[in-house]
Amino acid sequence: MSKKVSILELQQKKVEQKPITMLTAYDYPGAKFVDEAGIDMILVGDSLAMTVLGHPNTVSVTMDEMLHHCKAVARGAERAFLVGDMPFMSYQVSVSESILNAGRFLKEGGMDAIKLEGGREVVETVRAIVNAGIPVVGHLGLTPQTATKLGGFKVQAKTAEAAKRLIDDALALQDAGCFAIVLEAIPAPIATAVSKKLAIPTIGIGAGVGCDGQVLVFHDVLGMFDRFTPKFVKRYAELRQPIIEAFQAYRDEVEARTFPTDAHSFSISEEELRQLNGHVSKELNLVGE
Ligand code: KIV
Repeated sequence: MSKKVSILELQQKKVEQKPITMLTAYDYPGAKFVDEAGIDMILVGDSLAMTVLGHPNTVSVTMDEMLHHCKAVARGAERAFLVGDMPFMSYQVSVSESILNAGRFLKEGGMDAIKLEGGREVVETVRAIVNAGIPVVGHLGLTPQTATKLGGFKVQAKTAEAAKRLIDDALALQDAGCFAIVLEAIPAPIATAVSKKLAIPTIGIGAGVGCDGQVLVFHDVLGMFDRFTPKFVKRYAELRQPIIEAFQAYRDEVEARTFPTDAHSFSISEEELRQLNGHVSKELNLVGE
């Protein structure tokens, strides 16, 4: 069994300027693929609301649904550091409820840390969760849970004022105890500047190569999500069509009775058949088999 990635190693990667790799995964086989590929961190993202559950956005996914997927990922991953994404309304109501929900990701979900979205407005919550002994990843820039408030899925921090706010938010999250921050949909030079200002690693998605690490969504990387493809996505495989073609080939063979063949069937010896015939030939109509 490979040694599990630790927060210390992730921090060391920042110091040595070695990029951190992160992908989302949502189930047991997915986690095994990502883990075996040697990716440092797995995020059980609330993006599963869209990629796995078919919702139009991330807001409707529940704590119980997130935990269901976290448990499966935890069973599949041995080495990667696991981060569970706190769903909308699981950390906005009160600090104590946030701590309880964050704790469930570790106790029930088998995660190593949690992620939550927001800047200064979540600092008190982050501090309380960290003080409870739960490692926290922040998430700034385009925060999908509140995308409507941000005016849609748009690049963030494009004005001087917004860039300043982003830097202040990042420093506030670091000060509250976050050990890493996801930066989503931010102009590359701004994300690079934030990354240089912080002592903790930044993990970028649509934030350029100057971040300390990168994250992408499982189904985007594999070309399995066809509703839309953001500019920052690179598809490293196109699996949608081969999957459909495999299912079509199966359907054709079943309909043509060319599957299953003898190679996929169980037979019995002549002697066993004779004995069976002696007992149940009438009921099963085995004569002549
Ligand atoms: O839910 C998710 O997959 C995420 C990533 C896009 C960072 O938050």
